[in-house]
This record gives sequence, structure tokens and C-alpha cells, in this order.
Amino acid sequence: MTKIIKKIGVLTSGGDAPGMNAAIRSVVRTCAYHDIECVGIYRGYQGMIEGDFKEMGPRSVNNIVNKGGTILKSARSKDFITPEGRQKAHQNLIDAGINALVVIGGDGTFTGAEIFNHEFGYPVMGIPGTIDNDIFGTTHTLGFDTALNTVVEAIDKIRDTASSHNRLFFVEVMGRDAGHIALNAGIGAGAEEILIPEENLGLERLLESLQRSKASGKSSSIVVVSEGDKIGKNVFELKEYVEENLPEYDVRVSVLGHMQRGGAPSCFDRVLASRLGVKAVESLLEGKSNYMVGLQQDRVVLTPLEQAIKGSSRIDEELLRVSEIMTT
Ligand code: F6P
Repeated sequence: MTKIIKKIGVLTSGGDAPGMNAAIRSVVRTCAYHDIECVGIYRGYQGMIEGDFKEMGPRSVNNIVNKGGTILKSARSKDFITPEGRQKAHQNLIDAGINALVVIGGDGTFTGAEIFNHEFGYPVMGIPGTIDNDIFGTTHTLGFDTALNTVVEAIDKIRDTASSHNRLFFVEVMGRDAGHIALNAGIGAGAEEILIPEENLGLERLLESLQRSKASGKSSSIVVVSEGDKIGKNVFELKEYVEENLPEYDVRVSVLGHMQRGGAPSCFDRVLASRLGVKAVESLLEGKSNYMVGLQQDRVVLTPLEQAIKGSSRIDEELLRVSEIMTT
């Protein structure tokens, strides 16, 4: 029998992403709309173990829809990996009268929620929040669109200086295991070459492509490199390699780093966060559990957490082709 849900806990976990605050706001306000209580859990699963809870009402999420980061803080909890840690966390939820959880994060966060659900039969719902966009079952994760805009703005600026000095820049962007940021921002910023983990371009082809680029009359170049690229060299090694093999190139490196995770969320991310928060709470109230809410063909849909974790978020073949044509 479905338990009646009277109080929902919400947490953010793993790497933060712009739009997480807008999602917290949406969860809190949807709870208030349906006349149920909501509790914010600080520092992800670690806060669940330590009982770091705070009651939240519609006014406690004023003026956060436009804020980057997460007001609930985020952490990667080692203790939650242990059965003892999860037992403690479960007991704290029971003691606080919390009947269900909304977790906002990436695949690590969902893995924790799934185990918790299996161990205790505890109702959970996931909202995908990571700039990497590497979650199966949703075309967009929270923060991806904002991160793309941040990266494109940064590369536009790098291009100004690159073309003034006729230089080649390797720009490293985030994406530990996925090249979505590199591919999309690379196309958006007009990169000459894009290196992503899903494809191994190979060093020889990179050199050929740079040579072709020079011969075709380009005076400056931007190569966008995903941090998880499989070419086997980091951006600094790539710089050395190109300088050794193509001495006519004056090469510089720019690692964009954590600035990609910050900043005010784009309108797209704010709207997405609001939609996903409503669906997450209402799905729990309908007795559904162990799903992720996501976006497919502009509709908010549910995907079993297990699939969201195990499925791979494929690189769009059409985008790959577009990028190839654009770099001609
Ligand atoms: O998962 C999101 C992400 O931003 C990755 O792209 C990146 O590799 C990682 O987080 C960095 O994590 P941390 O904040 O622990 O350095």
C-alpha cells in the first residue's frame, strides 16, 4: 500500500550546477501548494547522516531563482557509501517525520538514492542537475545550458586575443566523461577543432587538421578540448606536441575550470528547474518512486533511476556531423 506523504526532504549532492536553487524553490513551493511540509537537507547525504535539516516554507526560497550554486550546499559523502551511514540517515529521516526524498544531482547522487530505496523501501525521486549533461533519460540536465553560455562567452573573448596575435588556443572545458559541453560550445563559438572523450581524433589527424586550417587562410585557431578527452594528452601536453611538430604555430592554453559551474542560471535552466521540481513532488504524491524526472521532446517524463544511472547519454551524431562541416 502507498504510504501517505506528509513531509518531503530535498537535497543537492555532487558537483553543483546553476539551476539547483531554482529546483529547490520549485520543490518547496510545490509542497506548499499541496499543503505538505518540506525540509531542506544540508550538504547532501552527509547532512542526512548528521541530521542537518531545516524546515522550509515558500518564503524561505525567496530571491533564489536567479542565484547560481545551491543554498542547501553540496558534498560527496563517503559515509553514505557504508550501510551504517545509510542506516543512520534513514533513522534521522524517520525521526524528523520525513516520508520521501527529492535528490538533485548527477549519477552518483542517483546511485545513492537508488540503494537507499532498495534497502529501506524509501520513496525517492531524482532531478538531474549537472553541467555535464551526461544523464540518460533527459535531453537537458540543470546547469548545462547556463554552462554552455558561460563557455561560449569565454571563448568569444579568447578569440579576440587569439586573432590579434595570430595564435592557436587550446581551451579546456569541463566534462569528465562526456563531451556535450565541448561539442555544443565548440559549435556555438566556432571552434576549428573539438576534442571529446567519445571520439579519438588522434594526434596525427589533429596536426593535419591544423595544417589544413592554416593553408586555407585561417590566421588564428581555437581548439576546444573536453577534460575527459581520450587523445591521451592534457591541454599542456597538446600545446607542446603542436609546438614541436608545427613550429609555425604560436600556441597558448586556457583552462576554464570551475567558473563553468557558477553564475546566474539561464532562463532555460530556471524554467526547466521549475518544471522538474513540480513533477518530482507531484509524482511522489501520486505514489511513484525510484524515478528521475527529465525532459524529452519538451515534455517532462519519468525514467526509472536504474536506467538513468546505467544508460549512456549518447553524443548526438547529427551535431558531430554539423561540427565537422563547420570546421571546414
Ligand atoms: O560532474 C561535474 C563536473 O563539473 C565535471 O565536469 C568535473 O570533472 C567535476 O565536476 C569536477 O569536480 P570537483 O568539483 O570535485 O573538482
